Amino acid sequence: MAVAVRFEHVSKSFRISQTKSLKDRLLGVAGHRSPVVVLDAVRDLTLDIAVGESVALLGHNGSGKSTTLKMLAGTIAPSFGRVFARGRIAPLLELGAGFHPDLTGRENVFMNGAILGIKRDEVTRRLERIVEFAEVADFLDTPVKFYSSGMSVRLGFAIAVNVEPEILLVDEVLAVGDESFQAKCLERMRLLQDEGRTIVLVTHALAQAESFCTRALVLDHGAPVYDGPIDGAAAAYHASARVHAPGASA
Ligand SMILES: Nc1ncnc2c1ncn2[C@@H]1O[C@H](COP(=O)(O)OP(=O)(O)OP(=O)(O)O)[C@@H](O)[C@H]1O
Ligand SMILES: [Mg+2]
Repeated sequence: MAVAVRFEHVSKSFRISQTKSLKDRLLGVAGHRSPVVVLDAVRDLTLDIAVGESVALLGHNGSGKSTTLKMLAGTIAPSFGRVFARGRIAPLLELGAGFHPDLTGRENVFMNGAILGIKRDEVTRRLERIVEFAEVADFLDTPVKFYSSGMSVRLGFAIAVNVEPEILLVDEVLAVGDESFQAKCLERMRLLQDEGRTIVLVTHALAQAESFCTRALVLDHGAPVYDGPIDGAAAAYHASARVHAPGASA
């Protein structure tokens, strides 16, 4: 099995300072420093993803999905462990990530191309395809800050799927596009699947994950609680909800 992605005992912790209440601040309680808490966003994640696999990354809000994808994309570093990826990664992370708001759509396409390691004339050659897919021709020379959320996602998606990525990371963004664009994205992702590209899809739409992915990883408070066939993922996802629902300890 050729490995596209490998996580070896990966953990990520964030230090978060908790702002003191106004009353405590006024009374000067406990000095001037805000207390700092450590939050374990991802806990001891080990997994291999084979070339050509489509994996759904599932879990409730705050379970560590985006943090995992960001470590894979290389935008944040793990606190412990190691992450390997082979080949060009096209990351579709949070809304607007990867775009400079003051640059136009066209300038952002070139900037993204450069970040992905694509030569300028190659980007020029692909520009028409990207713009056509994104359906933003009329806004190509408008700064991206004036795009609607859907338009910005469409442009991001169009770039990602038109740069021949070995690994495509999709974090929720499909949900922002309208129905016809979502269908178009899924169709294009199926083509990438057929070409043997590796895809990691974060979604809260279980039905979408089930129809698109063969394997799922479920995170619960940062810890992997399920890694297996997609068929078993819904049960694992719902089980993690029950355990942590308020008043569910009985
Ligand atoms: N840069 C950061 N600084 C501090 N804490 C962070 C940071 N990024 C994420 N976290 C925390 O890490 C945890 C995991 O966040 P993450 O965004 O990975 O969750 P998620 O599974 O993607 O959630 P959602 O479904 O809401 O997108 C959360 O508790 C979040 O508050
Ligand atoms: Mg997220």
